[in-house]
Amino acid sequence: MPYQIILSTDPGIDDALAIIFLSKLKVLKAIWTTVGNNTLEVCTHNAMKLLELLGRKEIPIIKGAAQSLSLNLDFIAEVHGKDGLGNTFLPLPDASSFIWKNLDYIISILEENPGEITIVSIGPLTNLAILLQKASKKTLNSIKEIIIMGGAVNVPGNVTPYAEFNIYSDPKAAKLVLTSKLPMILVGLDITHKVILTEAHIQVIEAKRSPLNEFIAKMSRYYLKFHKRIQGGYLHDPLAAAVAIDPSLITTQDFFIDVILDDPLKFGQTYPTKSREAPVISVGVDVNSEKFLNFFMNTLLK
Ligand code: BDR
Ligand code: CA
Repeated sequence: MPYQIILSTDPGIDDALAIIFLSKLKVLKAIWTTVGNNTLEVCTHNAMKLLELLGRKEIPIIKGAAQSLSLNLDFIAEVHGKDGLGNTFLPLPDASSFIWKNLDYIISILEENPGEITIVSIGPLTNLAILLQKASKKTLNSIKEIIIMGGAVNVPGNVTPYAEFNIYSDPKAAKLVLTSKLPMILVGLDITHKVILTEAHIQVIEAKRSPLNEFIAKMSRYYLKFHKRIQGGYLHDPLAAAVAIDPSLITTQDFFIDVILDDPLKFGQTYPTKSREAPVISVGVDVNSEKFLNFFMNTLLK
């Protein structure tokens, strides 16, 4: 298999679009849920609902972090809906029909496939921080690359003027991961705000009639209602997923990224410096939006 991806996710509408996209590309090795857009329970239910709808129940699910290492999270139904999937209220499938694994499984597949597996993180970084604490250096060095949707490096945040949601939800975890010296690309608001799903895209998907496409259309229209100001919805998580497959979609620059923990105003800010000694990571600074949207749409329409 050319690409193998472990997806850490808190579905979430744009998470759901990323799951559908990666599922169509047949690259998902496991789905690792976390608290974030909703409780761990609801996010895990959403992963189950999506795999059922996609007919991909052979993909193992790992129930990850139930709590942020940094704060008690509030869940706001505004962005993703009460059910986290745009109030589509898909039926909850029977849990016993899924393959359930744990953190040891992630460690074992990393060890068995050195240099082969990419971890894509599209929720808070709690799961990855726990992996860093638990796994040996050798295991961690077998990760091919980590792609992170998170942060706002040279642009304002979306939770506060300084912080982006995934980092704000667990800045302690984010700091651990971003300074871990592992190979990493940060896909933050700097570039995700340049990739926008519009009503025109939804109509193209809807025109190819199927239960999955009807679901995508209904869920996405809910998301667009929240983003009224931009007449579309940001494809944060699908962009990170796409970068894992085709890094040429974005331009990067190397920075040391610190995460602010001790300033209440700037809590969760991803702060770039050009320090030479500090661990440096690749930060997305520009994106070929048209190329990404073509890739995304063509994959969804497969
Ligand atoms: C991130 O926040 C979440 O609400 C989205 O799913 C995305 O991962 C964007 O800031
Ligand atoms: Ca997400």
